[in-house]
Amino acid sequence: MSRGRFITFEGGEGTGKSTQVRLLASYLTQCGMDVVQTREPGGSPSAEEIRPLLVTGGADRWSAMAETLLFNAARVEHWRQVIDPALARGAHVVCDRFSDSTMAYQAYAGGLEPRVVSELHRIALGGVEPDLTLVLDIPVDAGLERAAARRDSETRFERKGREFHERLRNGFLDIARRSPKRCLVIDAGQSIERVHGAVLDALKSRLGMR
Ligand code: TMP
Repeated sequence: MSRGRFITFEGGEGTGKSTQVRLLASYLTQCGMDVVQTREPGGSPSAEEIRPLLVTGGADRWSAMAETLLFNAARVEHWRQVIDPALARGAHVVCDRFSDSTMAYQAYAGGLEPRVVSELHRIALGGVEPDLTLVLDIPVDAGLERAAARRDSETRFERKGREFHERLRNGFLDIARRSPKRCLVIDAGQSIERVHGAVLDALKSRLGMR
């Protein structure tokens, strides 16, 4: 049995990631594939317990270092309990955010040394990387507007200010530039259907999946 493919979606606030994760997971399921749809922070029982600590409350509740350690704590459990076993049995895993989010949010936008974030990722998870990462990109104001319309309580990062979000957007674009084989930037200002089409094209051209 060959290992499944690990596909992640990344991007700032209001880029429509969660919709695209759902659409891709149901498409692959309809094609008869074994698919696990999951998200970060969270995705396993213990990691879901950590999630509210990170995504609710005051914007300055944690330092970038404390956040990085908490995101890594959640990720270790998620990887060990859900992602790795699924890939090992041959299932494809479609994940809403992974370690690129820590690099973009806590390093590029949050000010932590990128070297520290990648070193912690190496220590905590052996530096594992997705097979394909779709980076959904949209201008900051449009993204924040979309995110504000959602009206949920998970707004801690949304409230970090415009400059944070500009650094974040540039961070994701830089990560994609540095890993062109793994990452593809998709214009998330297009319709949901067109973004989904671009995602399917990428699966075909990059991973040889139909
Ligand atoms: P979500 O809104 O996409 O569900 O993600 C939760 C929030 O957590 C989002 O504002 C981005 C943030 N985040 C980080 O800051 N670092 C990380 O490593 C991850 C996975 C998420």
